[in-house]
Amino acid sequence: MATVAARIPVPFEVYRYDPASGAPPHYQRFSLELAPHTPVLSALLRIREELDSTLALRYSCRSAICGSCAMLINSKSRLACQTPVGPEVAQYGRIVVDPMRNQPVVRDLIVDQRPFWSEYERIVPHLIPDPEHPMPEGRTNPMTPEQVDRFRETPRCIACGACYSACPAVEADPSFPGPMALAKLYRFVVDPRDGARRERLLRIQPGGLWTCLRCHLCTSSCPKDVRPSERIRDLKEMAIGLQGATESGSRHAVAFQTNIVERGLLNEMKLVRQTDGLVGLVGQIPQGLRMVRKKPELLHAPPRIEGLEEVRRIYAALKDPEEKGSA
Ligand code: FES
Repeated sequence: MATVAARIPVPFEVYRYDPASGAPPHYQRFSLELAPHTPVLSALLRIREELDSTLALRYSCRSAICGSCAMLINSKSRLACQTPVGPEVAQYGRIVVDPMRNQPVVRDLIVDQRPFWSEYERIVPHLIPDPEHPMPEGRTNPMTPEQVDRFRETPRCIACGACYSACPAVEADPSFPGPMALAKLYRFVVDPRDGARRERLLRIQPGGLWTCLRCHLCTSSCPKDVRPSERIRDLKEMAIGLQGATESGSRHAVAFQTNIVERGLLNEMKLVRQTDGLVGLVGQIPQGLRMVRKKPELLHAPPRIEGLEEVRRIYAALKDPEEKGSA
């Protein structure tokens, strides 16, 4: 005989905001008795049906497929239909629900996703035929399993926007395309059928690629384990392989690497000069003086560390010439 899961009290604090009312945003408290496996989305729908019919939220499939129900649950970007209430209550004692970040709130838990989708449009998210290798009339263009493997996890993306909401680079610079758009871009850059792979990579570099802070919050927020931060890293490597260190961001990455290979420690003064050149260095003199006042040792090159040869061996082992410039 099937057993019924014991119900637990679940306190909710749900973000409410209706710009038409003129009232400021606030949290509304609700309490339900629920089985621990109940998804947060089902709980919110019950709140709407039984307690407050004005609660606005988005959802569609209820199966972690459409991506519509992304929201902040206890401050993390999650899919509400995929997040059971039990573990949340066990860890936080309550469930606080907010709309996604980095997009303006339309009402309650609904955000205006136009910034997110316009970045997706900007990367031209479809195959651009290669005029030198036209597809045979009436036939598909087959790929080998190895070529498909190069997409890595990107086809799993359901464009829910959880990564965009979690991204501090988007928050700091709204012109940054965001993790989803860059992961999709990667998918086309490694697609051998695409005729614009080089142009895609070159176009995204200025101001687009190097704003990423490498915090990996996009990867830890992704409900489908797409790992956007790893694909952004791959794009950076391919961009340097294709074009060399031509941007401030790529110069910084290369300078960082050569610094460490040289001595095993970062030479911060040299790093600034290698990244921004002499002109940039002059522009940073006031900040440099403040740093030197606090850390006078910055004026001298750091000593070579013990075990530097081991560091160099690690760098040599990590260097994969096949990946570089393979776009
Ligand atoms: Fe479709 Fe949650 S409702 S992903």
